[in-house]
This record gives sequence, structure tokens and C-alpha cells, in this order.
Amino acid sequence: MTDLKKIKKEAEKEIGSAKDLKELQDVFNQYLGKRGELTQILRSLKDMPKRERIMFGKDANDVKNALTIAFDEKSAGLKAGEARAAEEKEWIDVTAPGKKIAVGHLHPLTLAKRKTMEIFQSMGFAVAEGPDIETEWYNFDALNIPKDHPARDVWDTFYLKDGPLLRTHTSPVQIRYMEKNNPPLRIIAPGTVYRHESTDSSHEFQLYQVEGLMVDKDISVANLKAVVGEFFRRFFEKEVDFRLRPDFFPFVEPGFDISITCLVCGGKGCSVCKETGWLEVAGAGMVHPNVFKAAGLSPEWQGWAFGFGLERLAMLKYRINDIRLFRSSDLRFLNQF
Ligand code: PHE
Repeated sequence: MTDLKKIKKEAEKEIGSAKDLKELQDVFNQYLGKRGELTQILRSLKDMPKRERIMFGKDANDVKNALTIAFDEKSAGLKAGEARAAEEKEWIDVTAPGKKIAVGHLHPLTLAKRKTMEIFQSMGFAVAEGPDIETEWYNFDALNIPKDHPARDVWDTFYLKDGPLLRTHTSPVQIRYMEKNNPPLRIIAPGTVYRHESTDSSHEFQLYQVEGLMVDKDISVANLKAVVGEFFRRFFEKEVDFRLRPDFFPFVEPGFDISITCLVCGGKGCSVCKETGWLEVAGAGMVHPNVFKAAGLSPEWQGWAFGFGLERLAMLKYRINDIRLFRSSDLRFLNQF
């Protein structure tokens, strides 16, 4: 009897102080498990004389029931506590402002290139491409710039070992395209070009150009002006003044340079336009018959070509005063787009 009372008291104390479900389970095993103290007492009942068994048995079962209830209550209490703790830990404040995710964005040159492509594509121009590493034939000879001709010096060329070179302009794509396609044709050819020159606020040794080529019958400078004017209007999203002045490129005749009013200073004169109020953005002209011949076409075709400097256009559109910023990887600059 005293054993039973002692067991009950101790068990109740231990149940009461169990800190979590695992501890409680250990206490349970100690008293009511297969080898538990109370279990063993209950098991020994069968060996007792009948009278004692009835008396003692009742008490032992009462203790068992009392302890079982105590275990269940404690267990329910611990479970509720654990659930509460978990809830608190996982609590989400749905009204809290979200964390701002840093979203990537396009480089200004990519923006300018895409816009240019979109405008020309809507005017029926296909997009063509050529390799960055060119042969002398495509970069010079086929464009009516013979070897040893002083005109070749205009393009400060990076020569690679044993002949090939980094293209100095996108004009070789004219030849490559006309070799494979018959007129009438309209293309633009955006791409990187390389020039061996020192850099300053308006010069870089690596540039983007956009070549344009339109070949058909009865094509004139008027067509060139109309297409270029439409392009400017849509690219800058306003009317811009531009002018064609005679210039020399061996692969066109007549040749022009195309300038627009400097949008950085509004034509008043600044460092970007070298105080002239104008900025040269392209070379252009009527395709030279020798170019048609080199590409295997009849020199009776007519066409115009232009080569835009994409950096120049982007500088004017976004009012950037130093061409070197584009490839500087300076986030203070890039994050503004
Ligand atoms: N390829 C010339 C340059 O890079 C530009 C140009 C293209 C001129 C087409 C006339 C016609 O300087």
C-alpha cells in the first residue's frame, strides 16, 4: 500500500515537471510502460491470495486510472503549448510591406539597339548579321577600298595574326547579304565594330553600328532622306533637325555625312558637339557600282546605304555626355536606365 502511494506521489510530481512530450513519454514508460513500476505491481496481483488481491487490486487500478488521466491532461497541455510556440515562430505579418526585389534592366545601348530594330522592321527592313572577325576582302576590297589606297587609313584597323581583322564597320554585311540575296532588298545590320584609336568623351575603340541598305530600281537620295527622317522622328520621339553634307566613302557615290542638331545642348554648342551645335551620327550615300559588282550583282541596280553610330544616337536620346560611360560598368550610370 505504501508503495502504491509512493509511486502515485512520485509519478504525479514527475508528470507535473515534464518539460516536453518526450520527457513525459519517459515518465510514462517508467511507471506505466511494459516494464513500468506500476505495471509490474499490477502484473503481480495474480499471485496474491484472493482477499488481498481484491483490496489491493482496486487501489492499484485507481492509481493507474488517476495517473493515466494525469498523463493525458499533461500531454494535452504540452501539445497545446508546442502548437502555440510553433504558431508564434511561424507567424507572418501579412500587412508588413514586402521586400523590394532588385529587378535587372536593359543596358542603354541594348535599349537603343532594340528601338532601332523595331522602327526599321516596321518599315519592312530585315535584320542581317555578319561576323566580328572579317577578312580584308569584305571589310575593304569588296567595298571599293583597294589595298595601298590611302582611304584605307581612315579606318584604324586591329589586324589579327596572318590576315583577318576586327571589322572596322558594319558595311561588310552589305556584301555578305547581297551575295546571298537578290534585290529588291532592305536590311539593317546592327553589330559591334572595332577601331584602333585613342578614347575621349566622343571616341571609343569598340562601338555599335547599325548599317542600313536598300536596293531596288529608281532609288534615290530622297528615299534615303525620307527613311532616315522617319527613323529620327520615331527614335527621338520628336521632330529633330538633320542635315546631309557631302562626304567621301569609297563604297558610295555620292557620299554624305548625316548630322542632327545636338540634343544635349539644343544646338547652342557644348562639349559633346564640340561647340558646333551639330553631331555627326552617320555616314551614308548611294551604293557604288563597284560594290554591286563585288557582291555579284549588276551595277545597274540602285541603292543607298548608311552606317549609324549607335552610341551617338543613345547619347543624344538619353543626354549622355561621355561615350566611355557605356562600357564603364559604373552602376551609378547604369542604374539610371
Ligand atoms: N561604314 C562607314 C563608316 O563606318 C559608314 C557608312 C556606311 C558610310 C554606309 C556610307 C555608307 O565610317
